[in-house]
Amino acid sequence: MMDFTEGFGLQGKVALVTGASRGIGEAIARAFAAHGVTVVLASRKMEGLERVKNAIVSAGGRAITAVCNTGKPDQITEVFQRISDELGRIDILVNNAATNPFAGNAVDVPEWAFDKTVAVNMKGYFIASQHAARMMIEQGSGVIINIASVAALEALPMQTVYSMTKAAVLAMTRGLARELGPHGIRVNAIAPGVVKTHFSQFLADTPEIAQPLLDATALKRFAEPDEIAGAALFLASDMSSYTTGTVVVCDGGALA
Ligand SMILES: NC(=O)c1ccc[n+]([C@@H]2O[C@H](COP(=O)([O-])OP(=O)(O)OC[C@H]3O[C@@H](n4cnc5c(N)ncnc54)[C@H](OP(=O)(O)O)[C@@H]3O)[C@@H](O)[C@H]2O)c1
Repeated sequence: MMDFTEGFGLQGKVALVTGASRGIGEAIARAFAAHGVTVVLASRKMEGLERVKNAIVSAGGRAITAVCNTGKPDQITEVFQRISDELGRIDILVNNAATNPFAGNAVDVPEWAFDKTVAVNMKGYFIASQHAARMMIEQGSGVIINIASVAALEALPMQTVYSMTKAAVLAMTRGLARELGPHGIRVNAIAPGVVKTHFSQFLADTPEIAQPLLDATALKRFAEPDEIAGAALFLASDMSSYTTGTVVVCDGGALA
């Protein structure tokens, strides 16, 4: 029997959240920290990471910062070495840092933009998952959460390469869930619809794209980052102990 009076039961766990300096990653990091998780905050720029760390520490939580470009495998390796040396374990990996450097027609995508999108959104998620899985297999437990997108499930205008990488994230989620399940490790994805962050700012500047996306939602609004963090809390905790290899869609009903 599960004791539901215990809340999410995440006290004392260790999590790495990539892309934690703002937006969805920040919201997930703060939600985890509020539930007693020690959070490793990773992104490319220390300034944003320090801001999030200070907010977490001021609220009584625990966090450390790690500058890491997840498009560079060596930098991911360094972060996991630090986690191993300083914290000794990893319970939760949230692959969240992603990029979308070119919005336009597929025929116009320059090769550099294709390579960058694949390097960060696909290879970065995979390399981080490999490192986490090796440690989690030793522990006999762990959770990996991959932030995908509804772009993995439907065609969105001007985002074909981004969508390809997010569909690959869902394929990776299923493959790793099968492989790691016997080791007590669960792997799931979250597919957000439009969330009000820096990442989706271009929509605010392009109402002809934003309006149809807004109209398509059942709730008639875009999401706040905290509304994605709630799904992450569920997937990180034993509340979802029989859930693996799947995707939680948080899209305000756009695909309904
Ligand atoms: N916002 C949406 O509407 C939406 C919808 C569906 C899915 N998503 C997904 O949600 C995730 C988070 O997006 P968001 O909306 O929160 O974006 P955001 O507000 O722009 O935040 C992106 C975060 O990723 C970091 N980052 C970017 N490139 C990185 C790299 N190469 N290596 C390491 N960190 C990097 C950024 O910090 P630095 O600049 O310091 O590196 C920042 O912390 C992404 O996977 C995105 O695809 C977003």
